[in-house]
Amino acid sequence: MEKQYDLLIYGATGSVGKKVAEYLYRNARPGLKWAIAGRSQGKLEQIVEGLKGSVEGGEPVDVGIVVGSGETIDNVAKAAKVVMTTVGPYEVLGEPLVKACIEHNADYLDINGEPQFMVRMIEKYGKLAKTNNVTLIPTCGFDSVPSDLGTLFLVEEAKRNFKCGVSEVTSVFTKFDGTAGSGSVASIVKLFAEPSSLDPYGLQKDYPNPEPEKVTEYFPDWHYQPEYIPELGMYGIPFMLGYANTRVVRRSASIFASATPTESVKLNGSDAYCSGRFLYKEFSGIQSKVGAYTLCGILTGILNTAQKLLANKTLNEKVFNLITNMGFKPDDKAIERGSARVVQIAKTDEAEPRTLFTEINTLDPGFGETSRILAEAGMLLALEKQSIPAHSLVGGFYTPATALGTRLLDKLNEKADWIKRIDSP
Ligand SMILES: NC(=O)c1ccc[n+]([C@@H]2O[C@H](COP(=O)([O-])OP(=O)(O)OC[C@H]3O[C@@H](n4cnc5c(N)ncnc54)[C@H](OP(=O)(O)O)[C@@H]3O)[C@@H](O)[C@H]2O)c1
Repeated sequence: MEKQYDLLIYGATGSVGKKVAEYLYRNARPGLKWAIAGRSQGKLEQIVEGLKGSVEGGEPVDVGIVVGSGETIDNVAKAAKVVMTTVGPYEVLGEPLVKACIEHNADYLDINGEPQFMVRMIEKYGKLAKTNNVTLIPTCGFDSVPSDLGTLFLVEEAKRNFKCGVSEVTSVFTKFDGTAGSGSVASIVKLFAEPSSLDPYGLQKDYPNPEPEKVTEYFPDWHYQPEYIPELGMYGIPFMLGYANTRVVRRSASIFASATPTESVKLNGSDAYCSGRFLYKEFSGIQSKVGAYTLCGILTGILNTAQKLLANKTLNEKVFNLITNMGFKPDDKAIERGSARVVQIAKTDEAEPRTLFTEINTLDPGFGETSRILAEAGMLLALEKQSIPAHSLVGGFYTPATALGTRLLDKLNEKADWIKRIDSP
């Protein structure tokens, strides 16, 4: 059936969804037919009015409205070729749209940072997504695009320059100045509710590795001592988003390693990240040794306590409702000020490993950068699917690196110096 729109943003009345709509209003490619969607016609009309008033002069852009949720969620999936959703926590609100998109042939992108949700969706709908040839790309925001695509970039650099693979990547967030809304905090609360989300290999189960030695390695999140990173002269301590990012990067490595020869050619030639074991780690970087040990102790204590308390379903529900009802939103000025810097260090898989570095500089992580990444990924999938790996893949749940490839990096670099190789950090 012919779809009315190329692309649609579901959750456009929320903090991130509104930013995605604003980004599209200013940056939509010519000819893109797009719409905003949500559960309230009145709120969506207000968003469109706000968009029209936000750009002085210039031609008003045509923005469609689609109303749907609960029993009418099919309206959303039926309306567009590609659906982006920012309605979260995904563990609580995400499943109906995943199902509807697979049933009504809409490719799907989200910005979840909730491994337990992905594990559940892959188990429940992975086969149907392949049968219906629908592409689903979760984690298309700050979680986990810099980590995942930065790693792919390093793998491609090693292959192009040295004809070898990469056996180890460490991502260090040396700057993280951002804000969070109630949607993000509520999602973190839900993360603690589900012990299965702790499985470091949870996102690799549907890509069992054909060669046992080609596995990605476990790193014990949240329980570790600071790790000295000699290349940076810094100490690595737990990074909250690393919890989702590490699993997504490991999933990419597993998909690449598991790909059949024909598929691997189509996956940009990244048939495997390395010839042996692939290790991925992620940290916040801190200069002071004393500061690192102190913060690491405090964080480990807080995170382990939160994990124990919030695993209790009744308490989790109470805290979740409290945060959702508070409905706090990020301050626009704080979003404008926000930024982040990630340095990635890769070791090649040669007998005498070389070290490669990249640097990624972003806007405000949670809102500025996430909305830009999601909108650019959505436009790629809607308008240029033939130019990205997703085109050659049988449908299913993929990662940003395996489905969008380096093409998304090109897009992100077009408007800003997003990722670059550096000689030393
Ligand atoms: N990957 C990343 O880097 C990243 C960054 C930021 C946020 N996030 C995630 O994005 C999600 C949204 O965050 P946010 O700050 O935008 O949250 P938010 O401001 O609370 O917005 C939530 C949106 O969901 C809609 N919604 C709530 N309950 C619904 C229901 N029962 N049916 C249909 N729609 C419903 C709301 O619609 P109404 O207006 O009608 O209530 C609103 O549009 C969270 O899960 C957060 O963790 C990810």
